[in-house]
Amino acid sequence: MWGGRFDQPPAETARAFTRSYPVDRRMYREDIVASRAHAAMLGRRGIIAAASADALTAELDRLLDELTAAGGPPPDADDEDIHSFVERVLTERLGDDGRRLHAARSRNDQVATDFRLYCKGLTLRLAFALLDLLDVVVRRAGDEAHTAAPGFTHLQAAQPVTLGHYLLSLYEMHARDVQAALHAFTVADVCPLGSGALAGVPFDIDRDGAADELRFSQVSRNSMDAVADRDFVGALLHACTQLTGHASRWCEDLVVWSSPGFGLVRFDDRYATGSSMLPQKLNPDIAELSRGKAGAVMGAAAGWHATIKGVPLAYGLDMQEDKRTVFRVEDDVLPMLAALRGALDTLRVDRGRMAAAAQAGHPEALEIADYLTERGAPFRDAHQAAGRLVLLAESQGVTLGQLDDAAFAGVDDRLPGEVRARLDLARMVARRTSLGGTAPTRVLEEAGRARRWLTWQRQHLEGLAVRGLPPQLQPRAPSPAAAGADGDAA
Ligand code: ARG
Repeated sequence: MWGGRFDQPPAETARAFTRSYPVDRRMYREDIVASRAHAAMLGRRGIIAAASADALTAELDRLLDELTAAGGPPPDADDEDIHSFVERVLTERLGDDGRRLHAARSRNDQVATDFRLYCKGLTLRLAFALLDLLDVVVRRAGDEAHTAAPGFTHLQAAQPVTLGHYLLSLYEMHARDVQAALHAFTVADVCPLGSGALAGVPFDIDRDGAADELRFSQVSRNSMDAVADRDFVGALLHACTQLTGHASRWCEDLVVWSSPGFGLVRFDDRYATGSSMLPQKLNPDIAELSRGKAGAVMGAAAGWHATIKGVPLAYGLDMQEDKRTVFRVEDDVLPMLAALRGALDTLRVDRGRMAAAAQAGHPEALEIADYLTERGAPFRDAHQAAGRLVLLAESQGVTLGQLDDAAFAGVDDRLPGEVRARLDLARMVARRTSLGGTAPTRVLEEAGRARRWLTWQRQHLEGLAVRGLPPQLQPRAPSPAAAGADGDAA
């Protein structure tokens, strides 16, 4: 492909170290589709003969079908990268016409174009996988709208909440991850094709036409930046770092909640693992590994930023690491989302232990303080009075509700009054009806709102896929490496 000025072929070690085919063969579809748009454009502009362009586009279509049927390009081909693989095959089949394809193009603008297409597809696949997870989250939130659960701060029982409210907090964070993925889509949605190696090309090319065919909404405006820019990789890795960071937090909760000391939830047998030695063990492996993946993904993102920060403009082979990084993260995150979806779908909740845990640690104290506040006591005094009752209850080994009337009256003569009725767990959560609060009525309302958002967002993504990616690259088609993954865990 570039041997003309060389007296000797590359050393085997040099070639083995620098070639990227084993990694970038995964984006064969993007390379073929982008090459097709380029070939058609060359023909339209008379840069190559119309017959040559037709031969190229027809052969590229055939090659795409062929490789798709075969599950991707052969893993053992000896080419330098996916671009030279495609060009070699075209040349074997078409002779000179195959060798005409690379006019007015460099691998630098080619690889940036291919990888932007790949990342656009991946951001949508991530967003769809998040929506699939969120469908389960929101359904379970509705089912658990009335389930009292312990709410923690500092991992100390703080206030009772409803489990549905807790689950909707997961919805909120992962809904932001959908937005982050969509932002990454937008960042990638700029077509660099036609930038050449770094300086543009002297041919009368049609950049807008090629970008339209590839469904990019914009073309790049500076050829040096176009081949140098990998901000779309940073945006994608950020979305993945954020989403795995979110998952890691609630997975940590589930690890704690499922330990026998808490016993609030239990993973279904299909989503737990045993110990090779200890027969009684039921380990929350999916939650633990998800927590672990967050570290790996964060590391990949940090590594990528370190890789690119010193690359002189416009292009350096350092940048080839972008694909290994993104593919690795893809292979971690998509199977993780599918497994978490199944684990959450089948998670068993012990509502009795949830209620007992929600009641532990005298959470009724605030009810008493609020009651006195409503009756005119300064909150600080009310806080003090309720605190003294906690001391009393602890010394007697009873709950606040079990203290007798004299004990209440001893700290404030407005007590007990009507306060006893409020010390009931269901009452405590039901009263927290402020917008965003934990009351079952609010949770049911918000779950409905979430369901509407999910429906709208799914339609939006489907529309974006059709408008924003060529027909051959619609996002549900699995990539070769991800094809073996457990696509639908439920
Ligand atoms: N394999 C390269 C990459 O992934 C393609 C571009 C190579 N360009 C070059 N001038 N060596 O970035």
